[in-house]
Amino acid sequence: MPTSQSETTEKQVFSVIGRSMPRVDGPLKVSGSATYTSDHNFPGMLYAVPVASTIAKGSIAALDTSAAEKMPGVKAIFHRRNIGRFFRVAPNPDFSVVIDERRPPLDDDIIRYYGQYVAVAVAESSPEAQAAADAVKVTYHEETPDVESKLTPQNEPTVGSTRGDAGAAFATAPVKVDETYVTPAETHNPIELHATVALWDGTSFTLYESIQAIKNQQLAMSAMLGVPPENVRVISKFLGSGFGGKLWPWTHCLLAAASARNLSQPVKLVVSRKMMFQTVGHRPLTQQRIRLGATANGKLTSTQHDSLNHSSIQDDYDEGCGEATPHLYRCPNLRVTGGVVHRNVGTPTAMRGPGAVPGLFALESAMDELAIKLNIDPVELRLRNDTQIDEALNLPFTSRHFKECLTVGAEKFGWHQRNPAVGSMRKDGLILGWGVAGATWIANRLDCDATIDLKADGSVRVACGTQDIGTGTYTMIAQIAGEALGIDPDKIEVVLGDSALPTGPLSGGSMVTASLVPALLEAAKKATQKLQFMATTATPFSGQSADNLVFSNGRIHRKDQSAADGVPYDQILKSANINSVSGTGRSQGDFTDLLGLTKPKLSSHSYGVQFIEVTWQPEIARLRVSRVLTVIDAGRIINPRTGRNQIEGAVVMGIGMALFEYTFYDDQHHGAPINSNLADYVVSTNADAPNIDVVFLDYPDTHLNAYGARGIGEIGLAGVAPAIAAAVYHATGIRVRELPIRIEDLIGSTVRA
Ligand code: MOS
Repeated sequence: MPTSQSETTEKQVFSVIGRSMPRVDGPLKVSGSATYTSDHNFPGMLYAVPVASTIAKGSIAALDTSAAEKMPGVKAIFHRRNIGRFFRVAPNPDFSVVIDERRPPLDDDIIRYYGQYVAVAVAESSPEAQAAADAVKVTYHEETPDVESKLTPQNEPTVGSTRGDAGAAFATAPVKVDETYVTPAETHNPIELHATVALWDGTSFTLYESIQAIKNQQLAMSAMLGVPPENVRVISKFLGSGFGGKLWPWTHCLLAAASARNLSQPVKLVVSRKMMFQTVGHRPLTQQRIRLGATANGKLTSTQHDSLNHSSIQDDYDEGCGEATPHLYRCPNLRVTGGVVHRNVGTPTAMRGPGAVPGLFALESAMDELAIKLNIDPVELRLRNDTQIDEALNLPFTSRHFKECLTVGAEKFGWHQRNPAVGSMRKDGLILGWGVAGATWIANRLDCDATIDLKADGSVRVACGTQDIGTGTYTMIAQIAGEALGIDPDKIEVVLGDSALPTGPLSGGSMVTASLVPALLEAAKKATQKLQFMATTATPFSGQSADNLVFSNGRIHRKDQSAADGVPYDQILKSANINSVSGTGRSQGDFTDLLGLTKPKLSSHSYGVQFIEVTWQPEIARLRVSRVLTVIDAGRIINPRTGRNQIEGAVVMGIGMALFEYTFYDDQHHGAPINSNLADYVVSTNADAPNIDVVFLDYPDTHLNAYGARGIGEIGLAGVAPAIAAAVYHATGIRVRELPIRIEDLIGSTVRA
């Protein structure tokens, strides 16, 4: 379609994409009027508190609810014999319904992990429910749980990506690294607790959930509760984040729904912070052996990445640590394997950058060790091993600027001033360590439907059955639709978080933004085409053919007119006496190769590099992350303000991953994740956050969608931990291969102030 000069100019002036808009839902959030799941209250509301197992392995010997049942306000104590039936959903190969913990709650008397729910107390108030839950007497046949953190393979490893002969090439490589890296179990700690508010009207459920995937939740709950999907409506208007822990249903969701059905009253269940360490997933412990072989001038000749992760007794959660390894560097011989080791722990799940984030801690730490062995600068080593094709798929990339991330970052960070000698750099009496690591994350699209209504009152409504995990989906949609329509985003109402809306993508895998663009563009086109037809019978366009009319900047005008001379769309609607026109768009997940179901035509990933400075004070063993520069190649950035915020948040999380976070399963205390609170499980705070400089390269990836936008929820975390570990080595001479890096690890440093 030819575009006139004036239209092109106006398009450039009207640029909502790339605008640093504040969040459209910001005022609701700061004023406390955004309704999170547990903010929903209904007449006759009851409160449910689960009873959690105090052993990690064994069985229930007796469950005595008699005292609890007689307590004030108590409506019921549900357990295996009286809660009713749940259905177990078989794993389905097309991932159309995902449930990480497949065993429904209260399914049998066997205990497989600490905190497994054994009953649920329902009462008229939350304290009464808590008191009743505490009064349920459970006795167990306890067995010794297996929460061993050293992993040994229980099965043959699964071979992932493979090319050439990695073993033979390693054997003959002149320079080698062969090391094992460990990342601990990490617990998701979004500020908002998991919660369900369940309503049952005799036929249908309405479930208010803190969930990253309302559509999957609808299908999964329908299947497990044994009601048709159309009788389950899932609502999730605001999330206080989830980090992956809220992607799939957990057992508390079913306890709440079944309680509401059994009692015919609304039931609220809020999972406690302690229970969040037990029953709603975690990033599993990983143990990864990396073998790299290289020539003397630093060309990789062999890469082997063999990883294990723990999973629960019943579920095979595969972390997939080797996800990024096959395409990050050029290497003719490669082999990636993975394996699962079953332990008496809750079922693990995806956590921000699953697979790649722990995987890159291993791979990028090994690259740093290789650079030191070769006496080659670690930035230079990565430049020498850059690849312009994805050798795993033998496909070109949609858009890859990893090299530029390295060179731009090195320049901005001042990397050329780095003295590679350990402990050689000082500033203000502190020892400096500078480290670098590469980052990558998938760039994909999921199926997405969206509807745009243009209304006669001049407003626009955009509806999509996705949800805003908290990072800006409402804002992003207002911007994308605003750009597509040439209408100010302030006039656009965005409606999300209801499974009754057109099916939208889950908020996971950094895929929402990229998935939305094609759907919104098509919806905008369909709605505005209807307007064009409508305008052919309205003044001043009567008698014009629709082909001769254009919609741009919110107005209908003739092709030979500029938009400014056209008629605002709401006037067309008003004169036609029509309240609104609607268009629905659909985008398909062309890049769903992450499930390995379709053969992609191109390889699509985001890239980045983390440059990190630490300061080390050997006199008092004090380590700080003092400076971070992150260069991100993630396509066109729709909103640099929320985008920078995403990356900064991820970097702060990465500091926690490198230095603080680990979930400790204590075999001396019944296999409990014993540091199950925010005092003992340390996450980064503002005080730990250094100056973080975020640079977006901003190359539109137009293979992914017309605006060239990718998601950026996870890429900022990738590479942080290995860059910190590299910086710590540079400062102290100590290579820490097991996260988190602790002060105890560094005491042996011989670097002196
Ligand atoms: Mo994320 S782990 O894709 O929610």
